[in-house]
Amino acid sequence: MGRKDKAVSPESISPETIGTWMRHERQQKGINLTDMAGQVRYSKSYLSAVENNTSRPSKRLLEEYERILELSEGILTTHVGEESIPQSRRRTTPLVPKALHDVKIDMNEAPHVTLFYGRKEQLSTLKRWVVTDHCRLVSILGFGGVGKTVLASELVNQIKQEFEFVYWISLKDAPTLETVLEKFLSFLDDHYPTAHSQKADELIQHLLFHLQDHRCLLILDNFESLLQSKALTGRYSDENQGYALLLQRIAETSHQSCLLITSREKPGEFPRLEGKTRPTRSMDLAGVAQKEGRALLQGEELFGSDQIWTKLIDLYAGNPLTLKLVAGIIREMFGGDIARFLEKGEFVFSGGIKELLDQQFHRLSSQEQDIMFWLAIERESVSPIELEEECVNLNSKEIMTALNSSHYRSLVEATRTVDGMRYYT
Ligand SMILES: Nc1ncnc2c1ncn2[C@@H]1O[C@H](COP(=O)(O)OP(=O)(O)OP(=O)(O)O)[C@@H](O)[C@H]1O
Ligand SMILES: [Mg+2]
Repeated sequence: MGRKDKAVSPESISPETIGTWMRHERQQKGINLTDMAGQVRYSKSYLSAVENNTSRPSKRLLEEYERILELSEGILTTHVGEESIPQSRRRTTPLVPKALHDVKIDMNEAPHVTLFYGRKEQLSTLKRWVVTDHCRLVSILGFGGVGKTVLASELVNQIKQEFEFVYWISLKDAPTLETVLEKFLSFLDDHYPTAHSQKADELIQHLLFHLQDHRCLLILDNFESLLQSKALTGRYSDENQGYALLLQRIAETSHQSCLLITSREKPGEFPRLEGKTRPTRSMDLAGVAQKEGRALLQGEELFGSDQIWTKLIDLYAGNPLTLKLVAGIIREMFGGDIARFLEKGEFVFSGGIKELLDQQFHRLSSQEQDIMFWLAIERESVSPIELEEECVNLNSKEIMTALNSSHYRSLVEATRTVDGMRYYT
């Protein structure tokens, strides 16, 4: 019997320590850890962590123990339900480190990132949420081109060895929920039948079993493609309503996996699900810092004083995509001279930048477009009361709803002052 497989006495078993109980029952039947791991098809180190009470057993693992050890049905699952496992233990469960070759990865739909700058603080926060705190649902939100996808991709590269399965799907073409679920299930289960006709809620349930049994990292990039344009933010298009159930079930069911999404808009369920100490969190991503902005434009053959560089990066709020687009214009039309470009205000929103802004502006509801108009012409931040005076056609409730919605789309910034909230673009 190995060191990890030490004997326990039945007296030491309590409902709080289900792992101890599992080990006891296994030893009673004379099955060693290696054989048990083979039978339940889990790694020996994972079973050892469960039996040491440092990892949470899934319901299916408990059922497997009951079946293999010929225990009465439900003796483990009902005596020690999921909720009796202490919260702190669930969140601080140490991960079983895996060799990279043990991880099944499909990142074919992710961009290939060769140069990645900065974002140290954001990466460290995201790692804490996903790896240490075991968050089940995490979103990276921000304006188009701000760097959500490359940040997610860098994060996955840095933490993939903590998982058994890593799968990235882009939602750019708004696939149906069933298509996405079947892709997930075929990836997670080699024996998943290809032809069947299950409903979305059955497929979600099936997926949850896998998320309980294995530590999986699933990524849905471009989540905003599922949301309605011309409506207040966060609402799904009619055909994509089912995704709301997916997010809700993933956030609220106990399991050991994580769904990471990137989106220009915050999906409607998030405000209800998220919280600093809850397993759903979201990160609002702003542009890159000055140093990273300059690093990004290295090789673009631009020149200017330090002050001029700062002005350029500030002007585009450190948005990497916008900065790259504008760098092309400065090089082609101004011989790389940033100062000359800055003198010509009319070029500031040309080409791809205008397209990017148009795309986001056209998704707004008419109330939001009104508010954006007034915020854009005000140089200082404004309060909701001041806005009410300007937008005579909107009442205070409509103004607050539109402000919140635009804030979720990363189009409006909010700041808290002694006199209450103030908003600016
Ligand atoms: N930290 C970074 N280091 C290097 N390049 C970056 C960084 N952040 C963004 N970029 C570059 O900026 C561009 C836009 O980034 P990305 O595609 O991640 O934006 P996004 O927020 O996902 O945009 P969208 O909303 O359109 O999906 C890409 O070319 C990317 O390589
Ligand atoms: Mg993206």
